Amino acid sequence: MLILGIETSCDETAVGIVEDGRVLRANVMASQAAIHSPYGGVVPELASRQHIRDMQPTLERALADAEITLGQVDAVAVTHGPGLAGALISGVNTAKALSLTLDVPLIGVNHLEGHIYAAWLAAQGASPADEPGFPLACLVASGGHTDLILMEGHGSYRLVGRTRDDAAGEAFDKAARVLGLGFPGGPEIQKVAESLERLERDVLTDDDLEQLAAPLPRAWMRGTLDFSFSGVKTALLHRAQRTGLYPDPEPDGAGHDFMVASLAAGFQESVVDVLTAKLLDMAQRYGARGLVLGGGVTANARLRQRVLAESALPAVIPPPVLCTDNGAMIAASAYYQYQRGQVDDLSLDVDPSLPFGAPLAEAMAAGE
Ligand code: KG4
Ligand code: ZN
Repeated sequence: MLILGIETSCDETAVGIVEDGRVLRANVMASQAAIHSPYGGVVPELASRQHIRDMQPTLERALADAEITLGQVDAVAVTHGPGLAGALISGVNTAKALSLTLDVPLIGVNHLEGHIYAAWLAAQGASPADEPGFPLACLVASGGHTDLILMEGHGSYRLVGRTRDDAAGEAFDKAARVLGLGFPGGPEIQKVAESLERLERDVLTDDDLEQLAAPLPRAWMRGTLDFSFSGVKTALLHRAQRTGLYPDPEPDGAGHDFMVASLAAGFQESVVDVLTAKLLDMAQRYGARGLVLGGGVTANARLRQRVLAESALPAVIPPPVLCTDNGAMIAASAYYQYQRGQVDDLSLDVDPSLPFGAPLAEAMAAGE
């Protein structure tokens, strides 16, 4: 079964083609990063308009990559939430038009469920459902969400932890803005953090070096599996102000690059520390058999390294290109929905705040 997946919830126009929920046939993205970069964040109006421009060429490239024609597509899947309303509408309307004209099923997919199913594309051989097997402890960390989700089977999710303020990706993006780095901030922070070892530190005084090396705070939110990233973001801002990096940095000044790299590395370490610890804690508390990571932040090299090094359980971490937004994960997720008979009709609407995973308290009240 060939499913075409469309993803336009934020700033990537993405089309993927997946065979039988596991085999990646095409995965094409048109990034809008250059358009939003001057603003340091996604401008919804610009995103919606750019999706309209990029949709057709992206679709054509995906079909060419998969070496199929539209007539061979068996079902059309699309992200219908959560995300930016105007951006979602362009994908959903394209999917409806294709479903109608090709006379194939239309499957609306939750973006967060899609991020989890990228693991099914990443795992070679046995599927994560068989090896390591359910229940799976899933971390979905993106620009809009930081959720810990217990996946007990296909389509069965409990939300056991979430951020109480900023999402991890949002915090990376804001931190990058404070440090004068580009957008999206996550990859930029990672890149400069990795450059730290190579930079000259002698230009700074011992006092400065000591200030820079002091760890940034971690919000442990003890007794819960929830996150909070606003504290570390504010601490970074204050340190950038004290070291003169914000609001008027001197990019040619002595030690500028070292200071930026040092703060970026400290920030990354703080976020990665909490994400890793809470994911492992959750896996233990709920007796998970394995870990699944998804969402743009899980493309982070340091996070991947820490999780792999510290987890006694097997972890499925998709390659970075499947962690960030893509259409293939939507097609993969749709395949399992289709197996459960979850198909939509042309009344499918967008839902910018589409919920995902029954909160644990509700699940318990319902006697599950
Ligand atoms: O899942 P995603 O592509 O889009 C949303 O659903 O939001 O996630 C985008 C987020 C951005 O905030 C971006 O800065 C972050 O993922 N991100 C990263 C990395 N690559 C992307 N954060 C940390 N390290 C990375 N390498
Ligand atoms: Zn995403």
